[in-house]
Amino acid sequence: MTATPLPQSIDETAQLLLAHDYVAERALSTTLFLALKLQRPLFLEGEPGTGKTEIAKTLAAMLGRPLIRLQCHEGLDLASAAYEWNYARQMLEIRLAEAAGEAGGAAGSRDTLARELFSDRFLTRRALLQAIDPAQPVPPVLLIDELDRADEPFEAFILEVLGDYQITIPEYGTVQAPVGRPPIVVLTSNRTREIHDAVKRRCLYHWVGFPDAMREAAILARRVPGAPQKLAAEVVAFVQRLRAVELYKLPGIAETIEWTRALMELNAIQLDPEIVNDTLGVLLKYQDDIAKVQASEAARVLEQIRAGAATPAPLSGVQP
Ligand SMILES: Nc1ncnc2c1ncn2[C@@H]1O[C@H](COP(=O)(O)OP(=O)(O)OP(=O)(O)O)[C@@H](O)[C@H]1O
Ligand SMILES: [Mg+2]
Repeated sequence: MTATPLPQSIDETAQLLLAHDYVAERALSTTLFLALKLQRPLFLEGEPGTGKTEIAKTLAAMLGRPLIRLQCHEGLDLASAAYEWNYARQMLEIRLAEAAGEAGGAAGSRDTLARELFSDRFLTRRALLQAIDPAQPVPPVLLIDELDRADEPFEAFILEVLGDYQITIPEYGTVQAPVGRPPIVVLTSNRTREIHDAVKRRCLYHWVGFPDAMREAAILARRVPGAPQKLAAEVVAFVQRLRAVELYKLPGIAETIEWTRALMELNAIQLDPEIVNDTLGVLLKYQDDIAKVQASEAARVLEQIRAGAATPAPLSGVQP
């Protein structure tokens, strides 16, 4: 795998993303460009299904880098995130050394054995250590996904990686990414809890919100290129307006894409109340939300779309 040179401007960053079907708002292209230039991790926080994970995948593809992904979860610890000593192999090595000693062979000193036990051979490298491994031919993209799902103390483990691209292993020493060639690090959070300032301070931050109608239409055109034009326009208008309704969980871009695909499977060429109500489960994932939209909102929103077809200005309350 050969790495592509980094983009040299914000425009070039945006164009590269677009060439890989990622439609970024200007602020994201800017933050990303700076993160690459300054070699700082990128911290993305935002609504579900709005392209946070996708940006890491796109970066890996557009820059010709391997993607190393660390999915965070409750109970995630250093052993599964960074490294662990292969205890079983170490034990076996001790037994072998003992046996060789009993047989009167060259057992070697205890010191040598101890040193040997904490050498490369017994070190199991997990995502964080792999990402900074100087042996990597191309610095990878490291995605630390959904950090808010990990327990708070876990955040302390990643500070050294984020700040200095290094990990100190007490029995082994410090492993550091080659100077000037650190991994590209992307962290994401759905903000189910606040991430510690110490993590944020080491990163460039960008909030990923819902897209405006124009960007959502552009994303849809990229991700579902075969969608009938009228259907795509109505889907975007519908979802945009739905996000102004008070719901427990608003649909993300992922849902817009999925809904369009579902409607196409049903050969829809435009929206009508029946097809909307029948397919709401693709868009909304909570029964209370579905019931609310089915009861009144779907028809009202559809009427608004029809009435506003000539003037497609978004409703107030929908972010610009
Ligand atoms: N800006 C964008 N340009 C193109 N496609 C996008 C964009 N944003 C989102 N998508 C599409 O939406 C899908 C979902 O995005 P992604 O999985 O990255 O969301 P997320 O923010 O990580 O969501 P979650 O918080 O649920 O993990 C992607 O697979 C991609 O197809
Ligand atoms: Mg994600």
